[in-house]
Amino acid sequence: MTDIASIVSEIAEDMRAHEHRGKVADYIPALAAVPDSKFGIAVVLHDGTVHTAGHAEEPFSIQSISKVFALTLALGAVGDQLWQRVGREPSGSAFNSIVQLETEHGIPRNPFINAGAIVVCDVLLGRLQPREAIGQMLRFVRMVAGDESIAIDEAVASAEQDTGFRNMALANYMRAFGNVHAPVELVLGTYFHFCALAMSCRQLAMAGRYLMDGGRSDGHSVISPRRARRINALMMSCGHYDNSGDFAYRTGLPGKSGVGGGILAVAPGIASIAVWSPGLNPSGNSHLGQIALERLVQRTGWSVFEPRLSGA
Ligand code: DON
Repeated sequence: MTDIASIVSEIAEDMRAHEHRGKVADYIPALAAVPDSKFGIAVVLHDGTVHTAGHAEEPFSIQSISKVFALTLALGAVGDQLWQRVGREPSGSAFNSIVQLETEHGIPRNPFINAGAIVVCDVLLGRLQPREAIGQMLRFVRMVAGDESIAIDEAVASAEQDTGFRNMALANYMRAFGNVHAPVELVLGTYFHFCALAMSCRQLAMAGRYLMDGGRSDGHSVISPRRARRINALMMSCGHYDNSGDFAYRTGLPGKSGVGGGILAVAPGIASIAVWSPGLNPSGNSHLGQIALERLVQRTGWSVFEPRLSGA
């Protein structure tokens, strides 16, 4: 039998010693200040067992991982109508790129690039005030993680606002195409607060249980099994921006990264996994986080492309 506890602690030990750690995001002081020596991993198994190692209890800025939760809320609000305003194709471009928006008439390629997540926020603001949307997001992540202590780091949210010129350009550009309806500053205020959610690896892996378990978390239905499958498919194809193909090749898992250095990955029916190491690769994904997930899959066979003769 595979001993997950030993695998998890061995991976953390290997990552501690790793020399090349990637480059920590430095566009805001709160991210620049995080030491690149940090590494955490949490694995929540289908039976509820949790294995952690390294700095797994330390909250970090989840940044773009919040785009998964925002998508879940927007699909809950408007269902498949969302796809009239956002695509479902990998962009092959940087997470904050504007180039495709011109030829594609302000319709972002997918909900996991910045432009797509901004439209997702605008969709939520079709029914809610920003304060209500932010409250709904907080309640949602606390509920799926089973942890009322999860909070938004207001210093990060306001620093994002002060430096978010590209996001302002994206939102204004899409507004010119009629694909952002609410005032741009309200849409971005909501988006920046989502990015500023602070969660530990344990909290994030717990929050990902509904994607691991066909839409169920702790025995409760959060979304339908079909929706969970589809969100996982989008994470597999688009969760790591222009690095998504390589991540899928290396791990065979749906995953979503953030520039805080976190990655949420899902082995459907088996485990929800969160890793954190703040040093990034050139696409803005955690360098060691990806290596750690690749090792985990090599040792457990958890890739979704692994034949499962039992049919489990
Ligand atoms: O909106 C932005 O550009 C930042 N808050 C970072 C988003 C992000 O995490 C992209 N990911 N890798």
